[in-house]
Amino acid sequence: MTAELSVAVWPGITPRLLRDRPESLAEYQQSGGYGALADTDHLLAEVQASGLLGRGGAAFPLAVKLQTVRDNGRDASGTVVIANGEEGEPASIKDRWLLRNRPHAVLDGLRLAAGIVGADRAVVYVSDSAAADSVERALDELPRELAGVTIELLTVAPGYVAGEETAAVHVVNGGPAKPTDKPPRPFEEGVDGKPTLISNVETLAHLAYLHQHGARAFRELGTEASPGTFLATITGAGRAPALYELPHGIAFADLLTLHGVSPDNVRGVLMGGYFAGLVNRDIVGATLDHESVRALNSGLGCGAIGILTEDCPVAVAASVLAYFDRENAGQCGSCFNGTAAMAAVAVGLRDGNATQDDLDRLKRWSVVLRGRGACATLDGAANVAASLLAQFPDQVQSHLENGCQTCRSAAFTAARPYEVESVEAVVAV
Ligand SMILES: Cc1cc2nc3c(=O)[nH]c(=O)nc-3n(C[C@H](O)[C@H](O)[C@H](O)COP(=O)(O)O)c2cc1C
Ligand code: SF4
Repeated sequence: MTAELSVAVWPGITPRLLRDRPESLAEYQQSGGYGALADTDHLLAEVQASGLLGRGGAAFPLAVKLQTVRDNGRDASGTVVIANGEEGEPASIKDRWLLRNRPHAVLDGLRLAAGIVGADRAVVYVSDSAAADSVERALDELPRELAGVTIELLTVAPGYVAGEETAAVHVVNGGPAKPTDKPPRPFEEGVDGKPTLISNVETLAHLAYLHQHGARAFRELGTEASPGTFLATITGAGRAPALYELPHGIAFADLLTLHGVSPDNVRGVLMGGYFAGLVNRDIVGATLDHESVRALNSGLGCGAIGILTEDCPVAVAASVLAYFDRENAGQCGSCFNGTAAMAAVAVGLRDGNATQDDLDRLKRWSVVLRGRGACATLDGAANVAASLLAQFPDQVQSHLENGCQTCRSAAFTAARPYEVESVEAVVAV
């Protein structure tokens, strides 16, 4: 099925990342892109002052990462930077949209990051073929002296774990797209054994904005602890998916109205793609910033939000856990077995076959399995299980006692819940 994607900017703000059509090198330069990087210390200080947090999921401060790789590089023979555009998260479209439409903003951010950490090698890491074509065209028209560093494009087969940072480093080093044990983490020892900065492509596009406009302008939108704008992929609620550029801190209820969904009909949301778990109706009264969403025991993650209106939270959790069961990299016993076991209980609950003992086990697993495995996939699965139990106790109990009429007759069983299947964009920037 192919659905249209609408692309829009929050009313009243000037977009920083979205635009109405793909951008050429000339257009990007005309708007101030690829300006000289005269002073890397100054830019690093601006990144620090801006408070820019990574947009790949963990919201880690970019300045800390840049400083660490730069420092580690002093003792090593060079550093490497990677733009992570793999976007293995089915419910997110922002990175593919950026790469397809604003490749130069990403490449500009990448060469600036390379300048700050003193990298002699820069890699754009993607799996979407249209994104790869767009980056290739952008690299063809980008003079080497403007980039200041050799930029390579590397494509990989799509997969949920392929965008995890050690999996990306593994691929650049010639291995399979599977996470590796930490330590060492990429900022210590990554590509070719060198300290490696790996940043999400949206983070890098914000870095390019910051270079042009400075930290003060960057902070004009957003909140103190979640500065700037972010790209949000909104799915579910029986509507076509949408990509929005939003200032951090807006009321979720206002976003629902903009998206054409009545707040009264919202049962909850699936946050951060599949990673940050479910939130009940409390989300309707929340604002979209890290501090507010964390207070609900969840996370903004990569900015992908699936809205549940008709969908049963038990069935959504079952589908996501079944996805993790299928998509984990199959190399850590705790993850391989843990995701399968959690999925089996959730599917049993959906289908009216689970017992209280099963639920007690699910609850225990959602605690004890955290932090196991080479990457955080198992944490994502634990988040989904724990949040279902904590945020939807009534629905869980009624499934246990009577089964669920809706799930019995027409259960939500999407293999890739809230997936954005097409990027045929309808633009209203
Ligand atoms: C299972 C898993 C999958 C991930 N997939 C992606 C991805 O597709 N794209 C991405 O940018 N980050 C992904 N991440 C996060 C990266 O490991 C890394 O933190 C991120 O690229 C850093 O960029 P940032 O600091 O700009 O957010 C994933 C993490 C995990 C645990
Ligand atoms: S934790 Fe799971 S997804 Fe991550 S590497 Fe191990 S098996 Fe693969």
